[in-house]
Amino acid sequence: MTHPHNLAVNGSRLWQSLMDMAKIGATEKGGVCRLALTDLDRQGRDLFVRWCEEAGCTVTVDRIGNIFARRPGRDDSLPPVIMGSHLDSQPTGGKYDGVYGVLAGLEVVRSLNDMGYVTEAPVEVAVWTNEEGSRFAPAMVASGVFAGVFDLDYGLSRADLDGRTMGEELARIGYAGDAPVGGRPVGAYFEAHIEQGPILEAEGKTIGVVTDAQGQRWYEITFTGQEAHAGPTPMTRRRDALLGAARVVEAVNRIGLTYGPAACATVGLMQIHPNSRNVIPGRVFFTVDFRHPDDAILAAMDAELRAAVAETAAAIGLETDFRQIWYYAPVKFDAACVAAVRQGVERTGCSSRDIVSGAGHDACYLARVAPTGMVFIPCIDGISHNEIEETTPEWATAGCEVLLHAVLERANA
Ligand code: GLV
Ligand code: MN
Ligand code: MN
Ligand code: MN
Repeated sequence: MTHPHNLAVNGSRLWQSLMDMAKIGATEKGGVCRLALTDLDRQGRDLFVRWCEEAGCTVTVDRIGNIFARRPGRDDSLPPVIMGSHLDSQPTGGKYDGVYGVLAGLEVVRSLNDMGYVTEAPVEVAVWTNEEGSRFAPAMVASGVFAGVFDLDYGLSRADLDGRTMGEELARIGYAGDAPVGGRPVGAYFEAHIEQGPILEAEGKTIGVVTDAQGQRWYEITFTGQEAHAGPTPMTRRRDALLGAARVVEAVNRIGLTYGPAACATVGLMQIHPNSRNVIPGRVFFTVDFRHPDDAILAAMDAELRAAVAETAAAIGLETDFRQIWYYAPVKFDAACVAAVRQGVERTGCSSRDIVSGAGHDACYLARVAPTGMVFIPCIDGISHNEIEETTPEWATAGCEVLLHAVLERANA
């Protein structure tokens, strides 16, 4: 079928859906807290499923809780073109991270319905379980299972800090589906997302054509020293685990600056034991998040972290448990999908620039099993993973329209 030029999406319907979804887990500062596999995540999923059924889609859920809403194609035996992202959020999350890609996908389906447009290949909208990795580490775990990067058992056994597993929580909220995870051909995958950084807005561009994504390494480190009384214990006789952690926090920051400006290095979670103001901390658990678009530099950052941890532990007399719990190499997105996004930009007349994703996305794993592309839209001041995360209806509409064009490019190929 030739590509029609008068395609449009309903931007106000998309925006209204974003605002309706944002009521589930709404926070006082205007953001969202909808952690993976909580009751609020269930409510978000239920709303999405209802909207998809109202749009005439068939909904299936796989064994790790990924949801697929399918709109049939003229030749329904063709592999589907999938659009998607996630509905889970950070504890201080915004209204758009993940949700935008899911609801932009739904809006593409609704718009195709309005136009009575039947694609050659089927089109699906996917919600991937636990993209954030905030409650259950690592991030992108369920798209990783779909892509064959992780075993299903590994995914289901991921536990939160209270010891509850993804498998238990999926069953509890009614989203432990029975469809097999992955193992089916995907014609193409497209994920629309807010940029989560400042580049597009600063340069006055509406669309980011995402060519690559940074690689990541995640670590969990436990330092064990000795609890002791904060008064009688002389400074020279302490084995303070928190002092060790503090030195590593400083080292992590230095490593990020050393390999900058593309390097990112963050300690985001720390648990201090026993966490009492007059006890010298005997045990500290903390995490490190490293990112870089160049795998060799990510490896160099890894070596420096290991050296800093070993040196710190030796100096203070701490025992160390050091684990790299997650790694994925930098991603290059599929040339034909990137071209389809670029073509969408041309057809809609948006301004654009190529961009490398600083964040992790389910698209990074889908890229291993399907031709994959991403569409970025700007967010205000580049702020994300924050309740004040904001974008505009105009940008959201433009990104959705580009997504529609890119999807049709592949679904009618
Ligand atoms: C999750 O959103 C990440 O990119 O870290
Ligand atoms: Mn996201
Ligand atoms: Mn996120
Ligand atoms: Mn992410």
